[in-house]
Amino acid sequence: MLPVLIAVGLASGGVLLWIVRHLLRVSGQLQTSEAQARRDIVALQQAREAAEVADRAKMNFMSVVSHELRTPLTVILGYARLGKNLRKMPPAQRLEEVSHLGQVDPALLQSSVEDVLRTATTGMEKIERSGEHLLFLVNELLDYAKMETGRLEVDPEICDVLEVLNPVVDQMRTLTDEKGLKLEATMAPCLMLADVTRTRQIVINLIGNAIKFTDAGKVSVVVNESEDKVHIEVSDTGTGIAPHELEKIFDAFHQADGSFSRSAAGTGLGLSVARELAHLEGGTISVRSEVGVGSTFTLSLQKSKSPDPS
Ligand SMILES: Nc1ncnc2c1ncn2[C@@H]1O[C@H](COP(=O)(O)OP(=O)(O)OP(=O)(O)O)[C@@H](O)[C@H]1O
Ligand SMILES: [Mg+2]
Repeated sequence: MLPVLIAVGLASGGVLLWIVRHLLRVSGQLQTSEAQARRDIVALQQAREAAEVADRAKMNFMSVVSHELRTPLTVILGYARLGKNLRKMPPAQRLEEVSHLGQVDPALLQSSVEDVLRTATTGMEKIERSGEHLLFLVNELLDYAKMETGRLEVDPEICDVLEVLNPVVDQMRTLTDEKGLKLEATMAPCLMLADVTRTRQIVINLIGNAIKFTDAGKVSVVVNESEDKVHIEVSDTGTGIAPHELEKIFDAFHQADGSFSRSAAGTGLGLSVARELAHLEGGTISVRSEVGVGSTFTLSLQKSKSPDPS
């Protein structure tokens, strides 16, 4: 009897041990699964937050871009409609009246024709300017898309900084004149390694910003040299930029006033594309600024010794 009892006791002890081990294993597995589930929940939350941020960025992008595209399109359509109805406009009606007079005064006829032509030309100029602005916006968006997919490219060559800057300064002078700002250029020849078109694009962006954010005073373009770099400085006497904004303004779609109603036009892409282009050229863009005094953006590019003889 005793051996039987001992055998039964040992057997049930073994079963108990097996059950305890099994329970421990199951509890271990449960703990691992629980930890995994917690990690999954955190990852899911992070993914949801990232998707929400991306969604907000997309909505912001859509609203900024559609606003920016709509403005010049409205101007183009408005002036096209005026052109279509030119006949009903006061200068054309005056011309019609003059031409129906029994005895036409050549001077009066001449000035009436001039009036009609002036009205038509003004409209066409507005359409042209808005069309150019639209093209600029679309190109900027395409550059941004290329930048995001790593397809933005530059083709640096040896060129003179004057060859790059002179046409840009001439082109931008129209805008400073219109706004009653002075545009000063202090430049001397210097060879550098740069993509001519893309460097012009960067400088146009910097001067464009300087004009946009300056109501009075001047915009200056100054070229300096250091041992191995050419520095193109664009300064203004405008609003300036608060210290905490200085790095953020290079982020895509960031505009320092930060509001949706945005006082100044633009998509907030100019500087992000400009900085990427400068990097691709082996250069940098830096900024210093004081609120209420003005800003200086410096594009630094590689200097070059002499043109390639080949
Ligand atoms: N010279 C400047 N003076 C004051 N603020 C500036 C100047 N340049 C840039 N900023 C600030 O940096 C922001 C970003 O400039 P960025 O050129 O990227 O965009 P944008 O000019 O607003 O639009 P876009 O260039 O796409 O038409 C501007 O909205 C403005 O707040
Ligand atoms: Mg800009």
